[in-house]
Amino acid sequence: MTATAPIVLGTLRRDEFRRACALVYDVAGIAMSDGKEGLVSSRLAKRVRELGLRGFPEYLARVERDDAELAEMVDRLTTNKTNFFRERAHFDWLRDRVLPAASGRTLRLWSAGCSSGEEPYTMAMVLHEATGGKPDASILATDISARMLAKGREGLYLPETVADIAPALVQRHFQPARSDAGAERLQVREHLRRMVRFARLNLMEEWPMRGAFDAIFCRNVMIYFDRATQERLVNRFHAMLAPGGYLFIGHSETLHALEHGYAYAAPAVFVRP
Ligand SMILES: C[S@@+](CC[C@H](N)C(=O)[O-])C[C@H]1O[C@@H](n2cnc3c(N)ncnc32)[C@H](O)[C@@H]1O
Repeated sequence: MTATAPIVLGTLRRDEFRRACALVYDVAGIAMSDGKEGLVSSRLAKRVRELGLRGFPEYLARVERDDAELAEMVDRLTTNKTNFFRERAHFDWLRDRVLPAASGRTLRLWSAGCSSGEEPYTMAMVLHEATGGKPDASILATDISARMLAKGREGLYLPETVADIAPALVQRHFQPARSDAGAERLQVREHLRRMVRFARLNLMEEWPMRGAFDAIFCRNVMIYFDRATQERLVNRFHAMLAPGGYLFIGHSETLHALEHGYAYAAPAVFVRP
């Protein structure tokens, strides 16, 4: 019997890389630059092997005729880095400015590009703490990545990921749990999970929900989009905000070169007047 030699895939050829980039840009608005060939190749090679295909040309042909595989490819090429209390000052602003303004009615928040849930759960934690455990808030958490949304819904995190959270908060809002393989995890408790609704949404497509949000967090997402896409997006967010509502962006992002109707409020915080 002859053993089948493992296929060596190497790096995407330049034209293959360009094809993959064009597909990802068309679907998700993500502009992948030259220099990412190695990263893209290794992520896609894994998928090629899983599907038992012979190489990248066969894989790209498949992606081009199969929308589900195209979504899977985009999912695998997204950057999902996030953490609890990332850019902490924004959560102080949420507590001190956004929450009081909604007194007497349900606060509506949107984490657009929520990755594995750390951002919306931080929002939930902050509101829970600030209201003595009686938050009246609904948090919509959306992402293009089905993989990340599944993680968010599960709410299971490695113990080291809660390092940025005060121990008393960890105690109140997480419970010890195990992964399927039996490894130690911490799980977000039910009272926070109830506050967050995860849904798949591609920001480039139609949005089924209606405004008006009190705040939209779209942080460290637009950095992957080109200027025209960013401009369109921040203006669509503007239309989804209540007057006086806030848009939070990442600290390495800017609205500087974009035409928009926001007023500056604080670093990486903008208000719809
Ligand atoms: C780096 S993470 C940011 C997570 C979180 N907002 C934070 O700041 O920690 C960027 C997220 O944006 C999502 N994303 C990228 N393009 C998207 C699109 N077109 N529609 C929706 N989500 C998108 C990715 O899947 C990824 O989870």
